[in-house]
Amino acid sequence: MSMKKILVSGVKPTGRPHIGNYFGAMKQFADLQEDYESRIFVANLHALTTIQNKQEMEQNSFDVVLDYLAIGLDPEKTTLYLQSDVPHLAELAWIFECLTTMPYLMRAHAFKDAEAKNKEINVGVFNYPLLMAADIVAPDADVVPVGQDQKQHVEFARDTVEKFNRIFGETFKMPEALILESVAATPGTDGQKMSKSYNNTIPLFASDEEIDKAVMSIVTDSAAGVPENVYAIHALIKDKADLDALYEEKKGKYKDLKEALAEDLKAFIGPMRERRKEWEGKPDEVKKIITEGGLKMRKIIHDKMIDVRNKVGLIHHA
Ligand code: ADP
Ligand code: TRP
Repeated sequence: MSMKKILVSGVKPTGRPHIGNYFGAMKQFADLQEDYESRIFVANLHALTTIQNKQEMEQNSFDVVLDYLAIGLDPEKTTLYLQSDVPHLAELAWIFECLTTMPYLMRAHAFKDAEAKNKEINVGVFNYPLLMAADIVAPDADVVPVGQDQKQHVEFARDTVEKFNRIFGETFKMPEALILESVAATPGTDGQKMSKSYNNTIPLFASDEEIDKAVMSIVTDSAAGVPENVYAIHALIKDKADLDALYEEKKGKYKDLKEALAEDLKAFIGPMRERRKEWEGKPDEVKKIITEGGLKMRKIIHDKMIDVRNKVGLIHHA
């Protein structure tokens, strides 16, 4: 058996990923796959809170698998799977729901944000952190690479482990969030946090035209001579010394700096976009990878659930 620590994470299939998603979370999946036993999934059950359309769900989910392969996840090293191929996760979430109080879950930022925006929130949004806890603890995660905004969810998973183990005996490992502070919040083209919901993204697999358009639309301040948002995005892909030299040389020349950023983004995104295209041309191979990953994780988590059901008293012993 592998002695490596276990890494688990997932991305919701809710639209095209952007460079904030990549640097905040996804890049780490690729960087860490040598050092960890990696289990990375498509969080399609989580996406059901917002997507209720068969075609959209199927297409988006397949797209995330392509994204994973394009950023360099190697199916020999990382097990890739669909969350829905492991239905035990929903069972475990239910068990956790029965151990958790409503006031505790009401503290979730995601729930509070949703509540502030609309009145009719579905129960899935409310229970979301407990399904996420199941995703994390069922495959025995030691570490969970995520962006800063998921920190609280990992804390909920930790609290849930503590509670379950106290009531039923030592069963789950205590997971740790892995958050890179340096890329915790990539700004979008409007200066707010880059997010699919704000329409301010630079898509990770953008075409050259899309890159030009997005970069030229970046909001710049006119005070210091260094356009803050342009610089912050540029810093993700360029060495600090080269970057500072460039911004010194081109002080105040926002158009030149934007052009330089667009060129660097094209050089960075181009090869990943090509790799994605190659995988897109091999759908059967992609389906095979995801089917095998699902079968493997289903077996691992099934075994874990036998222990859980036994501890909770859900197995009939004659
Ligand atoms: P979005 O806000 O675009 O809908 P998600 O909620 O799907 O993004 O987040 C997917 C992953 O990417 C999470 O781990 C999240 O923390 C990370 N992430 C999202 N936006 C950013 C950002 N602007 N900077 C850094 N990381 C981010
Ligand atoms: N909630 C995460 C997001 O919005 C996605 C996710 C679901 C996840 N389950 C997870 C991430 C388990 C890490 C581990 O981005």
